Amino acid sequence: MQENTGKRSVAEIGRYFDGEVERFSDLGRGQASIKDARLMMDLLAETASALVPGARSILDIGCGAGNQTLNLLRVFPPADCTLLDISSAMLERARERVGRAAAGRITSVESDLRTASLPRESFDVIVAAAVLHHLRDDGDWSRAFEKIHSLLKPGGVLLVSDLIRHENPKVEALFKVRYEAFLREALGDAEAERIMRSVAESDTPSPLEYQFALLRKVGFREVGLLHKNLVFGAYYAVKQTASRN
Ligand SMILES: C[S@@+](CC[C@H](N)C(=O)[O-])C[C@H]1O[C@@H](n2cnc3c(N)ncnc32)[C@H](O)[C@@H]1O
Repeated sequence: MQENTGKRSVAEIGRYFDGEVERFSDLGRGQASIKDARLMMDLLAETASALVPGARSILDIGCGAGNQTLNLLRVFPPADCTLLDISSAMLERARERVGRAAAGRITSVESDLRTASLPRESFDVIVAAAVLHHLRDDGDWSRAFEKIHSLLKPGGVLLVSDLIRHENPKVEALFKVRYEAFLREALGDAEAERIMRSVAESDTPSPLEYQFALLRKVGFREVGLLHKNLVFGAYYAVKQTASRN
């Protein structure tokens, strides 16, 4: 995959998201700029429930205002929740909303996912929604997946929904046009243009095939696609159980 440079730094991304809290606080609809946001949120939670019933510990990477954790708490009401984000404003809102819904312990970590210090083999479920597209190059992706794998308990599950790129540039261009048309219809011209500008300045998504191969390489036993529409995809990855290691 190509090296990606010239995009917003981690600090700039944090500042940008400090100003976007309201846009990420609608649990009923999910994020309006993401095609099938609500559907993907439900598919992640239902898949987690099917694969790790009785999960007790959730890590939400790039938690934003907490939507994904809130949705997971519907299927795992007693779970302990760890919320991780670089934006203090997002983290504050997530803590407040999750605090009203959770019966278990809540831990919030204000950190870049690359450098966050978290306990190994301690999470049944890790969700990373609309955040991995901020990883920049092969080394970044590889280290992030290795880290996530090390944080999961044996048999634990990673759930991802995200902006993705298509391997073929012509197909990528086609889907970009379709995405912009979706944004204009859903949000109006000004907001669509603002979001397309932000994607260009800030995001470096990678193809699903690239992510699946890398997940298997770092040790995930099983990877499965849950949904793909326009420039968005959702999938799960299962860590080997202890007895099969
Ligand atoms: C598009 S929002 C998605 C929020 C939430 N996951 C959701 O589905 O509603 C991305 C979030 O990831 C956070 N983020 C971006 N890069 C990050 C990084 N390197 N480490 C941790 N969080 C990051 C941003 O601050 C923002 O809150």
